[in-house]
Amino acid sequence: MASSIAVHSFILLLLFLTMHQSSAQSTPSPSNFPTPFTSVRAAYWPSGSDFPTSSIDTNYFTHIYYAFLNPDPADSFKLSITQSDQTELRNFISGLRNRHPPVKTLLSLGGGSSNSSAFAAMASTPHSRSAFIESTIQVARQYGFDGLDLDWEFPDTPRDMSNLAILFKEWYQALLLDSKVQRKPRLLLTAAVYYANTIVLIGNETRSYPAGAIRQYLDWASPMNFDYHGAWSNFTGVNSALFDPKSNISTRYGIGSWIRSGVPPSKLVMGLPLYGRTWELEDPNVHGIGARAVGPATGTGGTMDYNKILEFNEENGATIVYDGISVSYYSYSGTTWITYDDVRSIKRKVQFARSLGLHGYFFWAVNKDKDWALSRKASNTWRGGY
Ligand SMILES: *[C@@H]1O[C@H](CO)[C@@H](O)[C@H](O)[C@H]1NC(C)=O
Ligand SMILES: *[C@@H]1O[C@H](CO)[C@@H](O)[C@H](O)[C@H]1NC(C)=O
Ligand SMILES: *[C@@H]1O[C@H](CO)[C@@H](O)[C@H](O)[C@H]1NC(C)=O
Ligand SMILES: *[C@@H]1O[C@H](CO)[C@@H](O)[C@H](O)[C@H]1NC(C)=O
Repeated sequence: MASSIAVHSFILLLLFLTMHQSSAQSTPSPSNFPTPFTSVRAAYWPSGSDFPTSSIDTNYFTHIYYAFLNPDPADSFKLSITQSDQTELRNFISGLRNRHPPVKTLLSLGGGSSNSSAFAAMASTPHSRSAFIESTIQVARQYGFDGLDLDWEFPDTPRDMSNLAILFKEWYQALLLDSKVQRKPRLLLTAAVYYANTIVLIGNETRSYPAGAIRQYLDWASPMNFDYHGAWSNFTGVNSALFDPKSNISTRYGIGSWIRSGVPPSKLVMGLPLYGRTWELEDPNVHGIGARAVGPATGTGGTMDYNKILEFNEENGATIVYDGISVSYYSYSGTTWITYDDVRSIKRKVQFARSLGLHGYFFWAVNKDKDWALSRKASNTWRGGY
């Protein structure tokens, strides 16, 4: 005991001296930030996308998520797996097995078009949570995944959020037990979450994610830093603004709110879009950010993949604008208006994530890049700062 107290005081003294010294120096520049060995460069792979996982260049990724499976409310919230899901799951895993460099695989549950009230019902009782948890572990082990990811879009009430905390705790405990029983590494547990810690703009009630449970039980949380503006509003806007001096709808605000809530940067993986959003302009001569529009650009449904945007710009001789305020691009031709990210803005966003000491970044989604241009730029920026 005595000697450990002595060691302790010595360390405190060292710490004091170090802090004292460094306070006299200028703050380190972002590029001095050490890249954590276990950091995350991830992407989701949408099932049914006709994009074989064997064609993914694993130099640019550490983790690939299978998107998505969902719980079946009619079968006590066990995962619903159709015949075609079985094929997709097997192909996903076999395309990523024995790759160099290797990637880890996570099975993601939920997604943007999933049934939010099914997740709310599942999370609300011990019995349904347990059935769901057991099913997710069984499926992950059966197919050979390294982890599980929850993408519940979105918890609607403060009660949903407190049930989510209980779900994370029970899930994590079940994963520890599974690891012991199976004598295998514990499955990872992660979650895709709203861009900010508190959900204000959608639904009826303000509610905040359980930061304590996220810190304690998740390997990381992945804020979805996109979908900030879209054709649901009749004004053009930026899909994934890094900064917005006029509102809280920005990545800087969102990530900041997560850190202020008590989730450490080392448990945050920032979202990046490999797609843009489109509008049909009301007047082709009024084409800035905030211009009046009359819905999504014709034939797009409101979104466009990065590779299709490059094609569109080329074929239509679109005007391309880099907006330094939001750190984003937009392009327009005739009445079509598109907000998106390109090499320069992706680089700046990854530098931002690194400068805050985040755990990494992820893309939605891996099949939307053009010859790995954005995946490569993000990966190189994260690893080497160029
Ligand atoms: C969504 O889940 C709720 C709650 O389990 C269920 O009552 C409802 O039928 C589901 N809706 C759809 C479209 O499956
Ligand atoms: C919001 O409240 C209205 C009226 O009470 C209700 O009809 C609607 O379903 C609620 N929406 C959500 C997302 O809870
Ligand atoms: C932004 O969020 C802060 C709290 O984090 C709040 O005080 C402020 O009113 C918000 N600003 C806007 C424009 O909504
Ligand atoms: C957007 O504009 C269209 C066409 O003018 C109109 O029908 C629609 O109601 C508007 N939507 C919103 C959210 O204002």
